[in-house]
Amino acid sequence: MKVLVIGAGGREHALVRALARSPQRPQLLCAPGNAGIARDARVLDVAGDDVAGLLAAVEREHVDFTVVGPEAPLVAGLVDALAARGHRAFGPGAAAARLEGSKAFAKQAMAQAGVPTARWRDVASLAEGLAAVAELAAPGVVVKADGLAAGKGVTVADTAQEAERALREIFVAERFHESSGAGAGGGHTTGVVGSDTGAAGSDGDSTPGSGPRAVVEERLRGEELSLLALCDGERALAMAPARDYKRIFEGDRGPNTGGMGSYSPVAGFDAERVREISAAVHQPIVELMRERGTPFHGVLYAGLMLTPDGVRVLEYNVRFGDPETQAVLPRLHSDLLEVLLAASRPGGLRGVRLSWSERCAVTVVLASAGYPASSSSGDPIAGLEDVPAEVEVTHAGTGARDGDVVTAGGRVLNVTALGDRPRSARAAAYAAAQMISFEGVQMRRDIAERAEDDGTASGAP
Ligand code: AMP
Ligand code: GLY
Repeated sequence: MKVLVIGAGGREHALVRALARSPQRPQLLCAPGNAGIARDARVLDVAGDDVAGLLAAVEREHVDFTVVGPEAPLVAGLVDALAARGHRAFGPGAAAARLEGSKAFAKQAMAQAGVPTARWRDVASLAEGLAAVAELAAPGVVVKADGLAAGKGVTVADTAQEAERALREIFVAERFHESSGAGAGGGHTTGVVGSDTGAAGSDGDSTPGSGPRAVVEERLRGEELSLLALCDGERALAMAPARDYKRIFEGDRGPNTGGMGSYSPVAGFDAERVREISAAVHQPIVELMRERGTPFHGVLYAGLMLTPDGVRVLEYNVRFGDPETQAVLPRLHSDLLEVLLAASRPGGLRGVRLSWSERCAVTVVLASAGYPASSSSGDPIAGLEDVPAEVEVTHAGTGARDGDVVTAGGRVLNVTALGDRPRSARAAAYAAAQMISFEGVQMRRDIAERAEDDGTASGAP
């Protein structure tokens, strides 16, 4: 079977590696991939958001199954375009991908499906936004530009002034309204910014040609958790829980990034608890999308806040998380190809169970100088060959020059190690990460430190 993975980051490299472990021994292709992926799959020179180019590549190469990594091609309708020509793919169609493509659409879906989330208002002007801030404030509000913003459209505001500044960026400067080449993150190569990326719709969220919109919501407090579920249009099958680290500096300080590390499993979230949460945050959305005639196939990623009042959904993504995938997939014993194929068929996950290693996985991201504000490219990377074979180094932003691997983006490499305990996984990941060097390398030293304190949950999925 010929399988094409779309994307160019660490998530896609982890997908390629996990697919390569399938007993079905698929022939693997990746578009556009990177220097590391090129060692594990044949890379095609087609951009990850070039829908027409990808469709042509699938036909030219006689691809049997396409696995879409990033959100941009999903929101742009790649899976629909493939399906229309009879090609199988893993990922939602554009209508269901709006759960990530539009914050307002996602909030409306949560309200309709009865999914617990922060109180919110959908606003279409600065005045409406300021009124919502006044209504929802105390203590703090969150302002979210509608539309894909490569992780940059969300402001967690401590004060009304900060919230106003964020609203002005959206409604006065119209910063998120037009396409611009944002997105420094290696895993998020989309660069798609703006509320005009959602498919046309009439239920209140952004449509092409309309003005900017935003969601203003109450600020929640608590620990975050990433819970991803495979969905087959009818049911959601939760994957192992993970935590990611979004800020650039230790202690969760500094600006947000695409993600500086992750770990899985997460103490306190055993299989039973995961099923319970998934039944509250994934299943109702899958059922809603099915009732609407836009069934959700693919990965529904719920970004959760564990508040004193219970679990709340902060956001949905319609794809694997980056860098959560790098820590989750190495723990998967099941055949990834088989379960992705099952999820792409209506009801195909019936009776499927996922089997997980009890070991812990820790992923440390190595980023280039200047990230996340900018990035540095073309610096030679040394030490990759010194890393022990049992440590998985996935490439996020690398290129090749004269036979050498060089940096090519903000997030450059992910180093994932497994261990029987968080402590040993962490030690192995950092020992390997320290063997690798390039000019200006940045890495957080506290990834999974708290998992060491927590220990592991027995029976953790
Ligand atoms: P989002 O892209 O919606 O996940 O937001 C990015 C990050 O902003 C989340 O991972 C949270 O850390 C934070 N965030 C989003 N919504 C809220 C909220 N209602 N309360 C507090 N923090 C939030
Ligand atoms: N780790 C956050 C994301 O994938 O969006």
